[in-house]
Amino acid sequence: MATHGTSLQAFLQRIEAFEQDATPALRDAASPEQLEVARIRFLGDRAGLLKEIQKELGALAKEDKPAGGRAFNEVKTRVAALLEERARAITVTARGAASTGGDLTMPSRQQWVGAKHPVTLVIEEIADIFRALGFTIALGPQVETEWYNFGALNFPPDHPAMDAHDTLYVRDDILLRTHTSPVQIRTLQQYPPPIRILAPGDVFRRDFFDASHAPMFAQIEGLCIDEGISFVDLKAMLTNFARRFFGSTKTRFRPSYFPFTEPSAEMDVECQLCKGAGCPVCKQTGWTEILGSGMVHPSVLESAGVDPERYTGWAFGMGPARIALQRYDIPDIRILYDSDARFLEQIATPARGGKT
Ligand code: PHE
Repeated sequence: MATHGTSLQAFLQRIEAFEQDATPALRDAASPEQLEVARIRFLGDRAGLLKEIQKELGALAKEDKPAGGRAFNEVKTRVAALLEERARAITVTARGAASTGGDLTMPSRQQWVGAKHPVTLVIEEIADIFRALGFTIALGPQVETEWYNFGALNFPPDHPAMDAHDTLYVRDDILLRTHTSPVQIRTLQQYPPPIRILAPGDVFRRDFFDASHAPMFAQIEGLCIDEGISFVDLKAMLTNFARRFFGSTKTRFRPSYFPFTEPSAEMDVECQLCKGAGCPVCKQTGWTEILGSGMVHPSVLESAGVDPERYTGWAFGMGPARIALQRYDIPDIRILYDSDARFLEQIATPARGGKT
């Protein structure tokens, strides 16, 4: 490296050689990274070659300095301009590559408008009807303890009724709830009667996935506890609900069994698809079951800390997915879980979607 006594000629050669090396290195840099390497090598503030040459400028004889300085500044300006130009070009290329094959003259993508799922629509509609009847919404956890899911609901240990509620255990006595009935207990523990609640939520069972079953589905629990409530209230309220929801349609109650209600009944509505004539969806019966119900068993009230001598009440559990099939003429429950937007769109459209 030259120090004292550098001749002007040697200096001019140095600066020219510098430009000859720097120009292709900057011009041919293909990526921001390559350009940065070249920048540091030639124009770097600390150890860049141009810095070195600047030091040599200081070592020129006094009379040579103006000429040397001019040459130095010219080269420096050209090389810096080249760096800047190259940096701009690389950015533009990178942007172009990001939209590979994109045709900028294409019309922009159509905007998606979200819509509610048919089961959500049904749940909301049912909630509206019961809200008008004085019910409020209550929610409970999807991961439950055995006690809330079974014990407090009067399932004796190993009772065969639990077979229908086979489910996934998270660990020990913690499971995915098989119905929304645990919300009855949780609510009664928290709020003293009189009480009227509606508890929608997802439940889980080891069921086959077929035209009318799914291993995970929504339920809506209803609970009404007060002094002097009888089966008459249950029948009246549920029949009233069916009329409001389906319009003038036939309903019927069939005796049933649940450990947590006594007596128990299932409610059927006339199959809306065949209007009672019989079709594959109603298995040729002309009826569809939409809910299980009954008078809350005294021992359930006791488990929840409510005095069964003073209070009575009724409860129901509905399957909104099955109701959605009836409401929207859908022949197979699995369609509801396919997430096929073409199907969902038909129902989300207000023209077909009934009250939304
Ligand atoms: N929990 C019951 C089921 O899932 C339905 C039900 C709820 C029945 C409330 C009676 C009262 O099958």
